[in-house]
Amino acid sequence: MSMYQDEFRRSIDQPEAFWAEQARRIPWFTPPTTILEYDEANHARWFVDGELNICHAALDHHVEQGRGDQPAIFWDSPVTDSKRTLTFAEMRDQVALFAGGLRAQGVGKGDRVVIYMPMVPEALIAMYACARLGAVHSVVFGGFAPHELAVRIEDAAPKVVIAASCGIEGSKVLPYKPIIDEAIEQSAHKPDACVVFQRDQHLAELGPRDHDWAALVDKAEPAECVAVKGSDPLYVLYTSGTTGKPKGVVRDTGGYAVALAYSMDTIYDVDPGDVFFSASDVGWVVGHSYIVYAPLLRGCTTVVYEGKPVKTPDAGAFWRLISEYRVKSFFTAPTAFRAMKKEDPDAKLMAQYDIACLKALFLAGERLDPPTFHWLDDLMDVPVIDHWWQTETGWPIAANLQGLEPMPTKAGSATVPVPGFNVQILDREGEQVGPMEQGSVVIKQPMPPGCLTGIWGDPKRFHSAYMAAFPGYYLTGDGGYFDEDGYLFIMGRTDDVINIAGHRLSTGEMEEVVGAHPAVAECAVIGIHDAMKGQLPVGLVIPKDGFEGREADLEEELIALVRDKIGPIACFKQVLVVDRLPKTRSGKILRKLLRNIADGKEFGVPSTIDDPASLQDVHEAMKERAVGTAHEARQV
Ligand code: COA
Ligand code: AMP
Repeated sequence: MSMYQDEFRRSIDQPEAFWAEQARRIPWFTPPTTILEYDEANHARWFVDGELNICHAALDHHVEQGRGDQPAIFWDSPVTDSKRTLTFAEMRDQVALFAGGLRAQGVGKGDRVVIYMPMVPEALIAMYACARLGAVHSVVFGGFAPHELAVRIEDAAPKVVIAASCGIEGSKVLPYKPIIDEAIEQSAHKPDACVVFQRDQHLAELGPRDHDWAALVDKAEPAECVAVKGSDPLYVLYTSGTTGKPKGVVRDTGGYAVALAYSMDTIYDVDPGDVFFSASDVGWVVGHSYIVYAPLLRGCTTVVYEGKPVKTPDAGAFWRLISEYRVKSFFTAPTAFRAMKKEDPDAKLMAQYDIACLKALFLAGERLDPPTFHWLDDLMDVPVIDHWWQTETGWPIAANLQGLEPMPTKAGSATVPVPGFNVQILDREGEQVGPMEQGSVVIKQPMPPGCLTGIWGDPKRFHSAYMAAFPGYYLTGDGGYFDEDGYLFIMGRTDDVINIAGHRLSTGEMEEVVGAHPAVAECAVIGIHDAMKGQLPVGLVIPKDGFEGREADLEEELIALVRDKIGPIACFKQVLVVDRLPKTRSGKILRKLLRNIADGKEFGVPSTIDDPASLQDVHEAMKERAVGTAHEARQV
């Protein structure tokens, strides 16, 4: 039996023994005696009676072990022309002081704190400071509009909001304070205070509720780490579901710390002292796990990059960072490489840098499409690894385990299930299917440590969204199959979630926004294929009877509305006003058919269609307006 198979089998057959062993990777205040138990809804809970603090495990512990002078963070910000290094000792001290400042604002164990910050070291300091106090942070990505922030503030009910005065997107300086103020205005819950980290690029005006970060720290006494239970929440991270209300994924502390420590060794093959670079954002799960927590837990240095893969200043940015910081393991989304490939198709800029330090390249956030895989594989001397995971799981479900047993890669596959994840493929009836047969990708209970423990404030939604479809299994929402060699292929979502430039968004949510416009009678938002961003949303809209405005004006208004309500990150830039939409006789819009047309595929006329002519109408409209590759679609 291979090392992988042996480890995988042990993790599935004896989960308690397996994870009890892995738990020793973490410095607990009180090691757990109960490894796995089930709550009243039969969901797994890990290490419930262990006591720890993840800030202690990631910072204080390493300082105590003699790593105080090692860099914890390399911050690199081409958009502000700045660089900064913070050692483990400096991080611990700054986090302790800021935590003291938060404590002076009344923040304590279990309180929620919303963080709205760009890629600056203070974002990590804020997250660790919350963890130090046992408070629950909820980071909101900067590309979301005030309304989305308001929804999260209302749901999480934070005592304090922590923000930066601005974010910087390429050459644009985006003031954050007006966004925060508007969100708090819209939210029924009002936080007691807002702490603002002032950046030189734009100083925010502070109001009666606001505190200047520097002034708060000046007056603060350092705070010690508060012991929390293994099952106590560390953070809530909102992610798109099928409805307008995002889901607050709740992450525990002990299970998460153990899973991340295991993954750094087993999947990413990095050791203490190595440099890990994940080019994502602290607002996404990849940022939480592999910029903020996992590298420092493992005693590695993390690169915090405030810039883009291209245009800051060019498509050589990642190669420069890898070379300059001697990065051993690099992680980003395939879309970033598609953007680089467009600007520098032969990767000439790579040759300018010595990247011999790099040992593996990891990709996730969306499927690593075979053309991008081959481009990278031909270019690089190191393994190019697609690995699959989601906000809910917090760490990879399937990967090529570099620290355990590297395997040959296959284009289009995330390789094999990671130990702990009993991945299966089920058909509609819940029966397991054989190799090469596509179905719903599910994870048999118990989920390993690190995965979500619930939906914030909504236990029923946890059950209905993930557990109800196939009792005993967690529904990932992805479709896929195993091949004859046991390699897993993830082929895309089976729900309304789409993936735009590695960002997860909901077409259902966009439909709710578009459908709320007074002139709209009916609408469908579909995700269509895009060569660079993977997918892009397109809206199809039927105006109400008696609509007398200009169609072009309505389209523009709807684009502005989605940007205003959800944010620029939704990339909602194309809307078509149509007379009718293809539906079944029971009134269901045939969205899959619309997607196939937009993606230039062959399509048949389903027997359930109510009005076959509606299909030709929409096809003509899409061709005329150059939607996707609709001109290539053919009715068969
Ligand atoms: N704050 C505010 N606005 C933001 C933002 C942020 N943090 N991030 C993106 N936006 C804005 C952009 O400025 C853009 O606005 P515009 O419509 O006014 O131009 C819009 O949201 C869309 O952004 P994006 O999809 O990122 O497009 P882009 O053309 O600026 O960049 C890529 C394209 C591929 C370079 C970029 O998306 C990228 O680096 N993707 C990698 C994603 C990633 O790391 N995902 C994490 C999962 S691993
Ligand atoms: P998020 O929760 O934002 O991380 O998005 C998770 C979703 O992104 C998954 O459910 C998949 O649909 C998709 N995804 C992420 N990584 C991969 C991958 N390596 N292969 C295929 N799909 C992926």
